[in-house]
Amino acid sequence: MASSRLKYLSLGVLVFQTTSLVLTMRYSRTLQAEGPRYLASSAVVVAEVMKILTCVMLVFKEHSYSMRALNSVLRQEIANKPIETLKLAIPSGIYTLQNNLLYVALSNLDAATYQVTYQLKILTTALFSVSMLGRRLGVYQWLSLLILMAGVALVQWPSESPAASEKEALSAGSQFVGVTAVLVACCSSGFAGVYFEKILKESKQSVWVRNIQLGMFGLVFGLFGMLAYDGERVKESGMFQGYNTVTWAVVALQALGGLVIAAVIKYADNILKGFATSLSIILSTLISYFWLQDFDPTGVFFLGAVLVIAATFLYGYEGKPAPNPSRA
Ligand code: C5P
Repeated sequence: MASSRLKYLSLGVLVFQTTSLVLTMRYSRTLQAEGPRYLASSAVVVAEVMKILTCVMLVFKEHSYSMRALNSVLRQEIANKPIETLKLAIPSGIYTLQNNLLYVALSNLDAATYQVTYQLKILTTALFSVSMLGRRLGVYQWLSLLILMAGVALVQWPSESPAASEKEALSAGSQFVGVTAVLVACCSSGFAGVYFEKILKESKQSVWVRNIQLGMFGLVFGLFGMLAYDGERVKESGMFQGYNTVTWAVVALQALGGLVIAAVIKYADNILKGFATSLSIILSTLISYFWLQDFDPTGVFFLGAVLVIAATFLYGYEGKPAPNPSRA
């Protein structure tokens, strides 16, 4: 079945994209020890522009490369349907808020606590899928989600406690701010993802048109963010300061990420997206062990990896997944 092929293809590309992004970002950080760093807020804007342009190309292809058809689709679906378009401002605004919350979280928590806590989004996503989409999950599927969360938490468990200086820097107060920020981000991630899924599956409109609508708001919010955080620096040295080849690779992979996530939400769903990103955490850790040799996996890591893989199979157990009334 073509749709089942697209489902596994999109999930596979998501595993590949998430893994490459993590490794490229890590590489760009070690490579960029000297010289000006690129502005993260500018990378967000550039990634949005890339996403919008790619989606326009995809809509162009969907309409047999006819300029007239492209023009009319964009006019009819985006400009002439302001209410439908405005609906996409909700997930877009929530994603912008979420990206900022995660920044607050990372400034107040050590990276491991942040990553482990953020895995709660697997459960919030399942809860929103059940309440907003009417999806039904069997006992094995709920169990597999719990095992998945436990597995990912173990995979990311710090192998040694944070350095004393880091611990001192992270006071109880900032720990509270950080954890609150991650918990709110878990809710927003689940809600925005499922809301986007609902919009996609309730209408016949192409996922790429929806992504253009989402990206337009993302671009506006991103530009505001860039001017608010880095306005002075952009005025001084331009928005492309510190960009190099690796920066462009990171930005392109981030843009690809947005496109693949949209495809996964369309052809699979948000819960399976959680499984794909969990598998990619294991993959990038193993690659960094065998290839970059900057990570020494512990027994806890292997136990976590086994749990994640077991959960993936358990989720697909029970024969067919429960029928999903909202699926187009
Ligand atoms: O952590 P989470 O899985 O919620 O992150 C999803 C990310 O994917 C967000 O940063 C969001 O901006 C991005 N996204 C996108 N296009 C979509 C859906 C999500 O760029 N259609």
